[in-house]
Amino acid sequence: MDFKEKVAELFIQVDNEITLDEALQMIEIPPNQDMGDYAVPCFKFAKKYKKSPAMIAADIVQKIGNLEEFEKIESAGPYVNFFVDKKHFAEKILKQAFQEKEKCGSTNVGQGKTVIVEFSSPNIAKPFHIGHIRSTLIGNSIHKIYTYLGYNTVSINHLGDYGTQFGMLISAYKKWGTPEIVDAIEKNPIPELLKLYIKYNAEMEQHPEYKDEARYWFKELENGDEEAQRLWSWFREVSLKEFNRVYDMFGIKFDSYAGESFYSDKMPEIIAELEDKCLLKDSEGAKVVELQDHGFTDAVIQKSDGSTLYVTRDIAAAMYRKKTYDFYKNIYVVGAPQKLHFDQWRKIIDLMGHEWAYDCVHVMFGTVSLEDGTLSTRKGRVVFLEDVLKKAIEKTTEIINERNTNLENKELVAKQVGIGAVIFQELFNNRIKDYMFSWDKTLSFEGETGPYVQYTYARTCSLLRKADVEIDADVDFSVLTDKESFNVIRKIEGFKQAVLDAHEKYEPFFVTRYIVSLAQEFNRFYHECPIIVEDVEVKKARLLLTKVVNSVLKAGIELLGMEAPEKM
Ligand code: ARG
Repeated sequence: MDFKEKVAELFIQVDNEITLDEALQMIEIPPNQDMGDYAVPCFKFAKKYKKSPAMIAADIVQKIGNLEEFEKIESAGPYVNFFVDKKHFAEKILKQAFQEKEKCGSTNVGQGKTVIVEFSSPNIAKPFHIGHIRSTLIGNSIHKIYTYLGYNTVSINHLGDYGTQFGMLISAYKKWGTPEIVDAIEKNPIPELLKLYIKYNAEMEQHPEYKDEARYWFKELENGDEEAQRLWSWFREVSLKEFNRVYDMFGIKFDSYAGESFYSDKMPEIIAELEDKCLLKDSEGAKVVELQDHGFTDAVIQKSDGSTLYVTRDIAAAMYRKKTYDFYKNIYVVGAPQKLHFDQWRKIIDLMGHEWAYDCVHVMFGTVSLEDGTLSTRKGRVVFLEDVLKKAIEKTTEIINERNTNLENKELVAKQVGIGAVIFQELFNNRIKDYMFSWDKTLSFEGETGPYVQYTYARTCSLLRKADVEIDADVDFSVLTDKESFNVIRKIEGFKQAVLDAHEKYEPFFVTRYIVSLAQEFNRFYHECPIIVEDVEVKKARLLLTKVVNSVLKAGIELLGMEAPEKM
């Protein structure tokens, strides 16, 4: 049990009507240590006990008496302030963390629950550009965080591999697909397919019949026409090969690539259920679900030519996932512009009578822009994600060459640090905030950056390599009662909460901010308290602290989806 829980328990003893969660929520961390390490305001009890909060605070202090965990417990106005016994605190926190090793900070909140995290989900035959970085990295981290907390997780890439744009591509290919074009697509799939797509779009203005032809080919694809299927599979395959290069660079794997096309044969069932439940209305030949009474625009479920839509496939996907995985939560990491889509879709599932509609969560995020202008795919000003990663690695290689010429595995480290820097920057802010991608901010070894955290981790590794004593939890904890050590230990105690907050709010940035502040506290300690010293007791205690920081940093770094090189 940690100290915060201990404080909460004391309050439950005082008032047995409050729950552990409520008690935990009452606890504040004072801004300044003169006011204790934890403080609990007593306003809440005033009405119940018909006394002033200050009197209640004083009573509570009396009632609790002396405890070995706390140096003192005192009332200050309406507050009860707890001052931990630093030696006891160090012992409790470090012994537990040392024992838990890589699993420090994890809990079993997720046991027995299945959570789906859908993320990345790019569109086939379209560029995997810097705009996709957000879903890919936020989703990957959320997936890792849920897994860490004991959930049974399933990562899904809901590829955009279906829809009328494939009708356009097939039609374009049928018109202009010379052997040279085939060759070019094989060599450089996405840019070439994109060219075809852009050309078709442009020509559609002069040739309105192209629109019908595209529709025809998409229909053929839905009907299982052999040629349409063959072309579509080819586009999908060459695109996935490109996407996988980026996933490999990030070390991302998916449990399932069941994208939109996977649900194409499940449409009739969905339409039938909607019909059965009297939810479909005819609208000029198309079928829609009316949603105006629920505050949304109506949703088209089937076009007049019988083809289905994005939202139809999403309904099928949700039904399939519920049946296949019986999820506790079904998380979609998709940008804010799709909010209306997900609101409509959830409402439809709700209207179908499925209560689990509200276990489906749209985790949205703001946009990313580049320093030299905004992103725009349509105008062809595309910045490929792969190129950004390559550039990050290149720049990191330069920096490493300047700093440390005799580092082994320079190439690998440059990759881990360069890509790690991009990930860290991406996950540094509240996800809903728009942000500007900046090379200088991303790659700096100073300040709140990925390289800084990785460097601190490598520093702990180097200290541990230098240790000439066995590192165990059997140390003189009174060595660790100075201010710098205590501050590091307090941070260590906070790891669990940071991970829990990140999971509850679907916000990896709780972990990002946490690890950077742990790194800062550790560096303060490192500068004030020499670790590899003559005095064996001092050395052992400080090495234990270093060891625990090492495990927590590694766990945190990995929860973000970064790697933790041991030498930098
Ligand atoms: N492919 C879509 C896009 O790039 C994102 C898919 C989001 N997921 C979903 N289940 N609708 O915009």
